[in-house]
Amino acid sequence: MDKPFLLAPMAEISHRAFRELLEEFGGCDGYFSEMISAGALLAGGPFEKWYIDTAPKPEKLVFQLVGADSEQISQAAALLDRLECAGIDINMGCSAPLIRKTGAGAAWMSSIDRAGELISRVRPLVRRRLSVKLRIGYKDDFEYLARFCRRLEEAGTELITLHPRLVTEKFKRLARWEYVGRLKQELKIPVAGNGDIACAGELVRRAAGSCDAVMVGRAAVRQPWIFAEARSLLQKTSSVSNIEETGLRFLELLSRYQPPEFHLSRAKRFFGFFCDNLKWGNYLKNQINREETLSEIERVWREHFRGEEGAEKISPD
Ligand SMILES: Cc1cc2nc3c(=O)[nH]c(=O)nc-3n(C[C@H](O)[C@H](O)[C@H](O)COP(=O)(O)O)c2cc1C
Repeated sequence: MDKPFLLAPMAEISHRAFRELLEEFGGCDGYFSEMISAGALLAGGPFEKWYIDTAPKPEKLVFQLVGADSEQISQAAALLDRLECAGIDINMGCSAPLIRKTGAGAAWMSSIDRAGELISRVRPLVRRRLSVKLRIGYKDDFEYLARFCRRLEEAGTELITLHPRLVTEKFKRLARWEYVGRLKQELKIPVAGNGDIACAGELVRRAAGSCDAVMVGRAAVRQPWIFAEARSLLQKTSSVSNIEETGLRFLELLSRYQPPEFHLSRAKRFFGFFCDNLKWGNYLKNQINREETLSEIERVWREHFRGEEGAEKISPD
């Protein structure tokens, strides 16, 4: 089985420092960037160069664009297409109310014509693979989802990633993976599935099901070794990772590959998931959230493994 394993686009997480960390564990087959605002990219803000850093594996990187204005998205896509990368993805799935209110993210799913016209406009400007990431839609209506995706396909989309939840659903409701298989039946282009994969075993199981690729988000932050572990399950070898060292390595990479203005928010975002590996993780998360510098976070992290909780150290099971 050789279905690609993909890293999900995650704001404040899917940046170069995190990709470097994943690569140290052997990496995955495709990295989606955190969403990049088409408007901000064209305006040339001071931080855009960090968003478009393609390292360490430009050939595996897919830039994800978010926006509401089709002219802006087209121009931004054309701009990114000139960089070495694997593709350009359009975000039609972000459910955050602030994003949707502007007509961006999942708001695209409310009109098949508007979304189809966007892809038709972007298509001739992009030589790389053009993809869309989306949800089921506003209602639990598979026929609508199928029509929506067929229109995207006709307009030139080459890959669809389905995170099978309604736009209005939070993480509490389980992702409906059966929709991934059903959507695959409706389309000629590949369909990647995404949602709720919690461990390497589940990643392998999903990849064996009806989909063309599998995308992992939160579990890859909790277990940056998840792709490596899935591969070793497939090859029946073993892999062990050290939690303390991985956290320290992430801090090092973060300070090297992200601007100082981003350090705190991104460290807190990472440890918000990564601390779930520890028995006293919630306590440690609160401590980290109170800190105001990376070196203080590092100190708290190191102390945790020296203190009484040190017993919980070392590796995940
Ligand atoms: C912190 C965070 C940030 C996210 N940012 C984005 C984003 O920028 N673009 C996007 O399409 N989805 C974004 N998502 C959704 C994920 O890509 C993914 O669809 C979702 O987390 C479900 O996958 P999972 O269960 O493997 O985490 C984000 C999710 C999280 C938790």
